[in-house]
Amino acid sequence: MLEINNADFERLVKFIKVKYGLNLYDKKYLVESRLTNYILDCGFDNFTEFLESVYADRSGIEMSNVISRLTTNYTYFMRESEHFKHFTDVFLPEATRSKVVRELRIWSAGCSYGNEPYNLAMCMDNYFGPRHAAWDSKILATDISFNALRMAKQGVFTEQSLQELPALWRNKYFIRNDNGTYRVTDELRNNVVFKYHNLMDEIGFKKKFDLIVCRNVMIYFDDQTKFDLIERFYDATVDGGYLYIGHAENAPKGIRYKTVQPAIYRKPK
Ligand SMILES: C[S@@+](CC[C@H](N)C(=O)[O-])C[C@H]1O[C@@H](n2cnc3c(N)ncnc32)[C@H](O)[C@@H]1O
Repeated sequence: MLEINNADFERLVKFIKVKYGLNLYDKKYLVESRLTNYILDCGFDNFTEFLESVYADRSGIEMSNVISRLTTNYTYFMRESEHFKHFTDVFLPEATRSKVVRELRIWSAGCSYGNEPYNLAMCMDNYFGPRHAAWDSKILATDISFNALRMAKQGVFTEQSLQELPALWRNKYFIRNDNGTYRVTDELRNNVVFKYHNLMDEIGFKKKFDLIVCRNVMIYFDDQTKFDLIERFYDATVDGGYLYIGHAENAPKGIRYKTVQPAIYRKPK
C-alpha cells in the first residue's frame, strides 16, 4: 500500500473539507487503502505527484473521482420507505388540496445513481395517474459525483436492484434490455433533471422547492457544516414545504424547520 505523508494528507483533507464539506481528518488509513490501486492505475507511484495532477485538473473531474473512492454512493430503491409513505400519504394529498398553481418542485440533493429521484417520480406518477398531465412537476437531482450522475442519467439498473419495488411498478416504469438489465422509461426519466451541484455552494436555483430530500449525504459533515446547509435548504424551501433527511442523521439544534416526525421536517406556513 502507498503511504501518504503528513503534509499531503493535511492538504488533501483540508481541501476536501473546505470545498465539499466532507470531514476525513481521522481517515488516513482509508485514504491510503482506497486510493493506492487507483493511483497505480493512473500511472503514478506516489501520492505527491498524483495529488498534484488532481489539483491541477480545473474540471474537477479528477477530484470527483478521488472523492467517490473515499466516500460512498450506496443507494437503493425504497430506501427508508417511511419517506415514500409520507410523500404519497401526506405530501402529495396536501399539495393537491392547497396548490392554486399546479406546480411542484422537488429536489433530491445527493442523488447518487438516481434510485431516489426515480423512486419519487414513480410515487408521483402512481399517485396522480392521468391527473399528472395537469401538473407541472419537476424533480431536480444533483450530486458531486460525475460517475454517479452519468449512471443516473442512463437509468439502467440490475434486476436484483428492482426487487424492493412493487411488481406493478417494475413492469410499468422499466423496460428490459437484451442483457437482462432494466432501463427506466422515457416518461419517467422526463420527470427528473440531473445536474452537478456541490452542496457547499450557494443554492442558486430559480425556484424554491416544495420538498428537499437530502438523505445519507450529511454523514461525513460536521455539525456546523450540517447546520449551515440546512439553513440554506430552509431559505430554498417554500413556506409549508418539507425536508427529508436520513434516519441515521441527527439534525443539529437550532434549525428553523419544525420536526414533523423522525427525519421529516417542515417550514412553517
Ligand atoms: C450514500 S449516497 C446517498 C444517496 C441517496 N440520497 C440515498 O439516500 O440513497 C451519498 C451521496 O452524496 C453525495 N455527496 C457527498 N457530498 C456531497 C456534496 N458536497 N454535494 C453534493 N453531493 C454530495 C455523494 O457523491 C453520494 O452520491
